[in-house]
Amino acid sequence: MRKIAIINQKGGVGKTTTAINLAAGLAKRGFKVLILDLDGQGNISTALNINAEKDMYSMLVEKQEPESCMTEVRENISVIPSNDTLEKAEVIMSGQPSRETILKRALQDVRGFDYILLDCPPSLSILNQNALLYADEAFIPASTDFLGLDALRKMLKEIDTINNVFSHECDVTMIIPTMFDGRNKTCKEHHKLMKTEFNGIPISEPIRINSKLKEMPKSGKTIFEYANSSRGAQDYKKLVDLVAKQKVM
Ligand SMILES: Nc1ncnc2c1ncn2[C@@H]1O[C@H](COP(=O)(O)OP(=O)(O)O)[C@@H](O)[C@H]1O
Ligand SMILES: [Mg+2]
Repeated sequence: MRKIAIINQKGGVGKTTTAINLAAGLAKRGFKVLILDLDGQGNISTALNINAEKDMYSMLVEKQEPESCMTEVRENISVIPSNDTLEKAEVIMSGQPSRETILKRALQDVRGFDYILLDCPPSLSILNQNALLYADEAFIPASTDFLGLDALRKMLKEIDTINNVFSHECDVTMIIPTMFDGRNKTCKEHHKLMKTEFNGIPISEPIRINSKLKEMPKSGKTIFEYANSSRGAQDYKKLVDLVAKQKVM
C-alpha cells in the first residue's frame, strides 16, 4: 500500500488535478485507490461531484470510523471528502495532544487499498504536517516558472525538517513539473533547472498547460472521462504509467 502526499505549499500548481487524474488512471488499471481530501476548499468534492454525509471532519474530530467516512465515487476509487468544516477541524486539532499524528492514528487500521493519495492544502499547516507524517512518499507538483522552482526548494526543505523533527521517513519520490508551455522560454529554463538541480529525485515528464484540464473541474469528471484524447489526458496517462511501474522501498 503506497501512501502518497501530493503536496506543495504553493496553490494553483496542479495538486488536486494530479490527485484526481492519477487516481483515475490507477483505478482504470485495476488498482484500488483512496483519495484523502485535506483541503477545505472541497475541490475534490466539486470536481468529482460528491455529495457525502460524512467527511474528513467526521473522522478527525468526531472520531468516526474511516470506512464510514468513505464515499465510493467510481469503480476502485473511494474518497474521504472535505468541505469548509475542515477549517474548524484544524482549529480543534491544534489544541489536541500529539496534534501532528491525528490523521496517522485515525487511519492506522485502514487496509485494502493499493494507493492512498492525499490531496494537500496550499500551506504549511497542521493538516500538511499530519499528511506528511502519515505518508511514506511525497509527490511535489511544481509549476515550471521562477516561483514554482522556489516553492519546490522550500517544500523539499520543509519535508526534510518534518522528517528530522519527528524521526519519520517520508521520501520525495516524484517531482511533477506542471503548467508547462514548450514555447515559453521561462518554462523551458525552469524545467531544465528542475531536471538538474535535484539529483536523485525522480522527475516525471511535464504536464503541459491544457485548456481541457482547466475545464475539467466544472465537468465533474476526470480528464479521461471528459477529454480522453486531450494533451492533458495524454500527459496524465504517462504519469500514471510511470507511477505504476515505480519501484519503492
Ligand atoms: N496542466 C494544466 N493546464 C491548465 N490548467 C490547469 C492545469 N492543471 C491544473 N489546471 C487548472 O489550474 C487551477 C489550479 O489547479 P489545481 O489542481 O486546483 O491546483 P492546486 O490543487 O495545486 O491548488 C485549476 O483551475 C485547474 O483546473
Ligand atoms: Mg488543490
